[in-house]
Amino acid sequence: MTEQQTWSQRFESALHPAIARFNASINFDIELIEYDLTGSQAHAKMLAHTGIISHEEGSLLVAGLEQIRQEYQQGKFHPGIDAEDIHFAVEHRLVEITGDVGKKIHTARSRNDQVGTDTRLYLRDQIQQIRSQLREFQSVLLNVAEKHVETLIPGYTHLQRAQPVSLAHHLLAYFQMAQRDWERLGDVDHRVNISPLGCGALAGTTFPIDRHYTADLLHFDNVYANSLDGVSDRDFAIEFLCAASLIMVHLSRLSEEVILWSSQEFSFVTLKDSCATGSSIMPQKKNPDVPELVRGKTGRVFGHLQAMLVIVKGLPLAYNKDLQEDKEGLFDSVNTVKACLEAMTILLREGLEFRTQRLAEAVTEDFSNATDVADYLAARGVPFREAYNLVGKVVKTSIAAGKLLKDLTLDEWKQLHPAFAADIYEAISPKQVVAARNSYGGTGFAQVHKALQAAHTQINLNT
Ligand code: ARG
Repeated sequence: MTEQQTWSQRFESALHPAIARFNASINFDIELIEYDLTGSQAHAKMLAHTGIISHEEGSLLVAGLEQIRQEYQQGKFHPGIDAEDIHFAVEHRLVEITGDVGKKIHTARSRNDQVGTDTRLYLRDQIQQIRSQLREFQSVLLNVAEKHVETLIPGYTHLQRAQPVSLAHHLLAYFQMAQRDWERLGDVDHRVNISPLGCGALAGTTFPIDRHYTADLLHFDNVYANSLDGVSDRDFAIEFLCAASLIMVHLSRLSEEVILWSSQEFSFVTLKDSCATGSSIMPQKKNPDVPELVRGKTGRVFGHLQAMLVIVKGLPLAYNKDLQEDKEGLFDSVNTVKACLEAMTILLREGLEFRTQRLAEAVTEDFSNATDVADYLAARGVPFREAYNLVGKVVKTSIAAGKLLKDLTLDEWKQLHPAFAADIYEAISPKQVVAARNSYGGTGFAQVHKALQAAHTQINLNT
């Protein structure tokens, strides 16, 4: 055993050193230290408040824990593997600082409710940080969108040119995804913010604790109603990983578009030097490493979600050591999402320039106004399917003749159908094609202006 005996006198010999390393979580759960200290301070106050320990003892414990916080913040707290985990590390140090009083901190609690409390406090903080990063990301999307209401970009289905859209409309699609991500994290937070403290090892405690008192001190909204559930529930972490995975899905889809757009084939954007990298052998290259990394890192977060589901699925109640495996994936997911949001926000803010000239050309060089010819006829009484078939034929003959729809003469249009008049040219110009899609939520400029207004209102809401 280590100098400071961790378990009871029941054990006669020390752990095999390799097993001690295998068992320990201190290398990664040190991340929880501030939450462990805060949780323990609330616990100590509650013990004093309920008379389980004296007020003087309570104050000594709270002050001792505060001293550990200072030591940690000054880089002076370095628990070794012998401490096993952050909970023992803190308790050992507290006993060193406060003597026998420190030995009372673990009255009426277990590491099982303690680690659950710490993890929830940690995640609650991280959710708040990620939500404000999402807001930042949204406001950058909104800024860029505002500059590009009248910039047109080919819209695709099946990655085939379909109908042109306002670039602002395209960017606002990502704004709305981020809005759902922001809301979803708020929903998750409701189930993160429940206190398991006081559930004990699994069955509650014989001491007259006050769980609502600690919950209030720690700003939890509620307490777990069932102690077995409280110590073994990891739904909140799984829900977070689902929400994190969806954030990554959205960032990854945007990344994929930026990667395509920056290719020579598309040439819709130029990557600025501050956000692009070169090749070690091909001097002409400028690579979109930022979006590629975001797209690549997405797999990690999905993997952590899958791992967490599998960790929990076969566990009998209540705590099992398997649950120690919840942390690294959770921490890595939090760090990955934060890093990706930061990188994508910088990329959009200053790393990317839309090539408006090239985009303007792009929307004139295809048949993406074909629907509008059909709509033109349909609006003049021709049944839509008939109009659709007619336009299909024109597209076919035009392709054969190497022409675009705008190149047809008025005579040719009239031969096709007498309903065509001179205003057909205006009707199929890219600007008009976009402007005309003025249905709610569509790309018409009037709609886009309304959508930008609504987006401003959305990001100013904070609940
Ligand atoms: N390090 C442990 C974990 O992260 C703390 C809880 C340990 N509980 C126990 N009964 N061994 O899960």
